[in-house]
Amino acid sequence: MVLLRQLPESATEEGSFWPIDGHTMVGWKRLENVQACVETILAEGIEGDLLEAGVWRGGVAIFMKALLYAYGEDMRRVIVADSFAGFPNPRLEDREDRHWTVKNSAAEAFMSVSEEEVRDNFSRYGLLDDKVVFLKGFFHETLPNAPIEKLALLRADADMYRSTMDILESLYDKLSPGGFCIIDDYAMSSCKAAVDEFRKRRKISEPLMVIDWTGRYWRKGQT
Ligand SMILES: C[S@@+](CC[C@H](N)C(=O)[O-])C[C@H]1O[C@@H](n2cnc3c(N)ncnc32)[C@H](O)[C@@H]1O
Repeated sequence: MVLLRQLPESATEEGSFWPIDGHTMVGWKRLENVQACVETILAEGIEGDLLEAGVWRGGVAIFMKALLYAYGEDMRRVIVADSFAGFPNPRLEDREDRHWTVKNSAAEAFMSVSEEEVRDNFSRYGLLDDKVVFLKGFFHETLPNAPIEKLALLRADADMYRSTMDILESLYDKLSPGGFCIIDDYAMSSCKAAVDEFRKRRKISEPLMVIDWTGRYWRKGQT
């Protein structure tokens, strides 16, 4: 990842940079995937809320809420989960996170976005209401007992092995049949290790679909 002001077209398409002013670092292809998943969920009546874990400035979660608004869907919640203080310290036992370098680097402050700023970003689009729910804290504390019954969409965008594993272990069982599990960071070995390990352990055979150079998703089987 690089921090740029002047962007080539492909960078916004692929989301391969950290924007200085933007509300998301996700590119068009991954946003189009979110739109396609939400439209399928609404068209097929897949039950549950929409959740992103790892929201940074909130752009993808805001986009989910905008889609619900555009389709007149006012019962589902958009759940916004983040520490709102950046990444946790990697744990010694998580070998897959041993090369994690964001902590104590220049990127750390850039990655730490407060809940207040994310709420403000929702408000700027006129999309903050009581169906936007904020889960503040590190995932291992907030997600296992989160007040969530069912999810139609689970989007993991938290880079690290442990963060990705915490998301999947805490929330995958709440994903409805026909719901979508989206992984933003499969190009990162830390995230890939968690996803591959979880899918293998849980014997998940639904194909891992390619969105772009790093985005992947699968659809939970409808049995
Ligand atoms: C790459 S950013 C997310 C990008 C965002 N989805 C977007 O649209 O631009 C990763 C986010 O994950 C959060 N995060 C990573 N690990 C976490 C954890 N274990 N608990 C809570 N938040 C975490 C960070 O605070 C950061 O906001």
